[in-house]
Amino acid sequence: MTVHSKLNVLVTRDLPGDAISRLRERLQVDLPSPDEEIGHGRLVEHIVDKQGLLCLLTDRVDAEVLANAPLLKVISVCAVGYNNVDAEEATRRGILITNTPGVLRETTADLAWALLLAAARRIPDGDRMVRSGGFAGWSPSLLLGHEVHGKTLGIIGMGDIGTAVARRAAGFGMRILYHNRNPSSLAAEVGAEMVSLDHLLSNADFVSLHVPLIQSTHHLIGKRELDMMKPTAILINVSRGEVIDEVALVEALKMDRIAGAGLDVFENEPKLAPGLVGLKNVVLTPHIGSASFETRERMANMAVQNLLVGLECGRPQHLVNPEAFHG
Ligand code: GLV
Repeated sequence: MTVHSKLNVLVTRDLPGDAISRLRERLQVDLPSPDEEIGHGRLVEHIVDKQGLLCLLTDRVDAEVLANAPLLKVISVCAVGYNNVDAEEATRRGILITNTPGVLRETTADLAWALLLAAARRIPDGDRMVRSGGFAGWSPSLLLGHEVHGKTLGIIGMGDIGTAVARRAAGFGMRILYHNRNPSSLAAEVGAEMVSLDHLLSNADFVSLHVPLIQSTHHLIGKRELDMMKPTAILINVSRGEVIDEVALVEALKMDRIAGAGLDVFENEPKLAPGLVGLKNVVLTPHIGSASFETRERMANMAVQNLLVGLECGRPQHLVNPEAFHG
């Protein structure tokens, strides 16, 4: 593939593997040094002479950035979720947006499953107890948790990752309910039943969120929804923090209105809602859904490939705004 060597791209952070070195062989790459602050201000300032941007989900590519990017042709997001980009404004300006779907599906589903098991079987509590010398020997009522096998899992958002979680649940002999905008063609494969959101919330023992963050999914789970869940239910979120009203969740967990939660994402990441860290019935991880060596390298390669194809005026395979492409 040949891309004109004078094209300039901004890469907001170095990525695992050698994808960025390959980019450097073809393009002028502006990459901050490891000790340089990577803030919105830098993005606004450095985007001005760039044709391409390779960014992360933490980079806010808003109207201010886009207004300062007269040459920008492609925004390659190294993530499946691209809610960090003002897609409407980018599309209006004819800028292609790409993401990295598929390659992180199984890895993210693995983490959802790990959180589900950890929250249900109180693995962090047990780990803390053993480390702190608090394990005084086997006891009949020590750290009782909730069974997973044979229970009902409710999946909200039966896309790629939701379906991969459902496959894991099938292996645990679980009944699977799902709620989605459209019936999923993969649901039959895992024996999942499509139901309304309210039915799912009031019947599931585990509720796992796999929706993209869009206007209609912001605070999809708030006080009303938490109140509908069983007092023994556990909520899992590996999608986006803003899908849950985190203040309402803290309140529900504090009052034992639900049994627990496993959260990899937070509403105001990396800040947490007041009271969340003090709760015993929640397992917290720092947005590491796709964080395996293999997957992060695959994501970097895909993001670079998307960027190169777009800059070559081709149609990138993972284009999310086809209406901006005029091949
Ligand atoms: C991770 O959260 C992603 O969207 O890739």
